[in-house]
Amino acid sequence: MNYLWGETRKNQIMRKKIVAGNWKMNKNLSEGLALASEVVNIVNDELNDDVTVVLCTPFIHLSQVAKIVEGSGKVFLSAQNISEHESGAYTGDISIEMVKSTGAEYVVLGHSERREYHNESNAQLAKKVDLTLANGLTPIFCCGESLEIRESGKEVAYVTNQLTESLFHLTEDEIQKVVIAYEPIWAIGTGRTASSQQAQDMHKSLRDFLAGQYGQEVADEISILYGGSAKPDNAPELFAQPDVDGGLIGGASLKARDFVSIAKSF
Ligand code: 13P
Repeated sequence: MNYLWGETRKNQIMRKKIVAGNWKMNKNLSEGLALASEVVNIVNDELNDDVTVVLCTPFIHLSQVAKIVEGSGKVFLSAQNISEHESGAYTGDISIEMVKSTGAEYVVLGHSERREYHNESNAQLAKKVDLTLANGLTPIFCCGESLEIRESGKEVAYVTNQLTESLFHLTEDEIQKVVIAYEPIWAIGTGRTASSQQAQDMHKSLRDFLAGQYGQEVADEISILYGGSAKPDNAPELFAQPDVDGGLIGGASLKARDFVSIAKSF
């Protein structure tokens, strides 16, 4: 009963459905351009208009992939990170303004790999979220718990705290521009997907938490994506959950056919 009610509500709400491919540190420039072209061609031929596809490429690919996705109307471009500083003496870093100038419209922020290998903190991510929104781009804000936290039963407290510390300073208008990606660390690249029920439970908890802070109407507008070993064979069940609005796809986004079949899973 609950499930049916959720389904009906999901159909009425019409949140944006998004499938984003996070290439991580894969594909050299020519391989990346070939992959982007293949994705755009298949998407243009086969995908409904109601799904937004995003390619999250390494920085060096952005400006050329921008030309490939331009005009498709269905495929958009994202960076995988930005500096928390606007500009200046930060050798090797990339600013939001640079990313924007390539034509990218999204930025992945707070991926667990950046939190782990680059010690990105919730406070630093709050600054990156602000810079992204101030420049008119959409943050894809990643959150998620380790296996240890999941096994201790504290996963909801942990993930909601990530939202509190990085997002809850935003206004109602601003938070509605954020896309949230729930990526349990134990499911990333491990082949161990969260069950559709585990994903739904966390997504519902996050939406309830957002509703507590911003009200139900605002929470209902926010797309929450699932990430972690999502594949063509498990995406349909994941995306059928009332609070799962799409996916952030790692490994399976490196093959155009697999990636687009995930996007076709709604
Ligand atoms: P996999 O799909 O390879 O598990 O990666 C998920 C991810 O980290 C996407 O950002």
